Amino acid sequence: MAVLVAGGCGYIGSHTCLEFLEQGYDVVAADNLCNSSAESLRRVEELTGKKIPFYEVNVCDRAAVRPIFENHKIDCVIQFAGLKAVGESVQKPLEYYQNNLNATLTLCDVMREFGVKRMIFSSSATVYGLDNPIPYVETMPTGECTNPYGWTKVMSEKILQGVAAADPEWSVVLLRYFNPIGAHESGRIGENPNGVPNNLMPYITQVAVGRREKLSIFGQDYPTPDGTCIRDYIHVVDLAKGHVAAMEYAMHHTGTEIFNLGTGKGVSVTELVETFEQVNGVAVPHVYVGRRAGDLAEYYANADKARRVLGWQAERSIADMCRDSWNWQKNNPNGYSNEKPL
Ligand code: NAD
Ligand code: UFG
Repeated sequence: MAVLVAGGCGYIGSHTCLEFLEQGYDVVAADNLCNSSAESLRRVEELTGKKIPFYEVNVCDRAAVRPIFENHKIDCVIQFAGLKAVGESVQKPLEYYQNNLNATLTLCDVMREFGVKRMIFSSSATVYGLDNPIPYVETMPTGECTNPYGWTKVMSEKILQGVAAADPEWSVVLLRYFNPIGAHESGRIGENPNGVPNNLMPYITQVAVGRREKLSIFGQDYPTPDGTCIRDYIHVVDLAKGHVAAMEYAMHHTGTEIFNLGTGKGVSVTELVETFEQVNGVAVPHVYVGRRAGDLAEYYANADKARRVLGWQAERSIADMCRDSWNWQKNNPNGYSNEKPL
């Protein structure tokens, strides 16, 4: 059986393609490369010794998506394709709503035409909004989002719930990721952001490798033990394995299910930086600056449901995440484009 991985060249998508191949499934990938490089898939092929049919298409383009379903027997779609920069989404709301909503709508529409009725969707802890108590549990109401990116996740969840409600043969699994970091232990694939990283771990690794002078830690006056924000960091390989578990669940169940994919443990920014320095024996020069607008002080997952229902739990530690992120960055100082100067 084959899974279609939409957004398969991206950070989480490439790791997920690798996990599916290693578990013996066939993988077909689609990506328009707006935030990635096809080199990631080439490396997944090299690591697994298996081929991935790749379609360089915008998945909002129905005519471009149909041939994928004509050429392959797709059993399940893993939907990663989307834009994901929170700040950029505030500047470019139309681009975010158009791309992220149409990607999912178009995929579902073509799936319906071809009788494919299983989708695993990349949602986010951001859907819990500002007011839910921690840890976040799947039964909590989704909240008010502070940016269009977050709203695209809330809206996509609602769209998919509606699709599954309308046709009892559909199976939809909404996976709410917490903070994915780390890389495959080979150091051959990893996170490769364009421009200045928005997220903490790629910023840390780029400072450590000398591409940036110092890390700014946003806020030291939060009501947390060391004053910096607390998040639930999850190793991207654990996250990828969660998709295999979700797909296997979707093979045998219909309707919609929601799962948090996190570790259930909170780690502060300062703790993450210190662990990175200790595990890797490398300095990360940093300064404490003011808060970043929109950041919540602390959140982490209640990860019980995924363990109970999917039989999945995160296994890799914060030290593993720091080691693997660094292994990727130091072997690939410029990500996938090693021809670029430092
Ligand atoms: P990424 O940018 O590395 O991967 C997304 C991929 O989708 C990219 O390869 C991009 O080129 C592709 N893409 C975007 N729009 C497309 C379109 N219209 N047609 C075809 N391809 C398209 O991001 P990621 O970190 O791997 O995230 C994957 C998914 O998980 C995203 O939907 C993201 O919102 C979600 N998510 C990510 C995080 C995180 O912290 N990384 C947290 C929660 C949720
Ligand atoms: N941080 C810094 N310096 C930096 C970057 C980040 O101190 O240069 C801090 C942030 O202020 C925050 C923590 O590190 O306290 C984590 O920030 P990230 O940007 O790495 O992650 P967020 O928790 O803000 O957001 C991430 C994804 C979102 C997703 C959200 C939901 O980027 O897409 O998790 O879990 F919606």
